[in-house]
Amino acid sequence: MVHVQHLFKHYRNAEHPSVDDLSFTFDEGKIVGLLGPNGAGKTTTISILCGLIREYSGDVNVLGLNLKSNTEELKYKIGVVPQQIALYPELSCQENLMYYGKLYKLSGKVLAEKIDSLLRQFGLHEHANKQIRNFSGGMKRRANIIASLLNDPTLLILDEPTAGVDVQSRSMILSFLRSYNEQGHSIIYTSHLLDEAEALCHEVLIIDKGKKIIQGTPKAIIEGNDTPNLEALFLKLTGNKVRD
Ligand SMILES: Nc1ncnc2c1ncn2[C@@H]1O[C@H](COP(=O)(O)OP(=O)(O)OP(=O)(O)O)[C@@H](O)[C@H]1O
Ligand SMILES: [Mg+2]
Repeated sequence: MVHVQHLFKHYRNAEHPSVDDLSFTFDEGKIVGLLGPNGAGKTTTISILCGLIREYSGDVNVLGLNLKSNTEELKYKIGVVPQQIALYPELSCQENLMYYGKLYKLSGKVLAEKIDSLLRQFGLHEHANKQIRNFSGGMKRRANIIASLLNDPTLLILDEPTAGVDVQSRSMILSFLRSYNEQGHSIIYTSHLLDEAEALCHEVLIIDKGKKIIQGTPKAIIEGNDTPNLEALFLKLTGNKVRD
């Protein structure tokens, strides 16, 4: 599903590379966690995988498409939930979703029904006509996720989808991700909540300073390193030093 070889990205104004010779493969049909401390390179890697960052070196293949030549085709097959909320605060939730649907060339009854069904699934149907600026943090996160689902993406990529949300919203988001995956879709997600990642992910890739630290099923890498859980393993492998 995703095949990355010798990926390297150094932002022009940065002191160090943000992604430094990263190679990995993610298989289809899984929920994969891309984990690492602040500044590890998660968002940069995700931005490359979904075609947002186009200046990098290395080989990146997503859903059988080579990213150097096929970013437009990829747009219709993946859904991306960015780390920052990407909705217009002055527009209503419904208007935002209509706007996103049109970017995917959806319209009319098909789009209206899709939006209605997702609003219901995420508990937002009674708030469809409210301006986004009046939404709580959890409601914004849920609306942000809906915007990435309008085209039924084969691969869903989410950058910290549960950051700053309450237990109820988090539980709804995680149940959705499990059921979306059970319907055959692949998911890549990032989180700093390692107990959440341990419970949710079939596989995790831990990176630090742009480099691969370890990849495997949570169970295998936890047991293989003689640690009680993923958080303990994470600290063992990435250390206690606070990142900039
Ligand atoms: N546009 C940019 N220009 C220069 N440096 C950048 C830019 N974006 C990110 N960086 C740097 O690249 C490194 C990786 O950042 P990135 O946002 O990918 O990390 P992250 O793992 O997503 O971190 P976080 O957990 O805080 O979201 C950091 O050192 C960051 O300061
Ligand atoms: Mg990030």
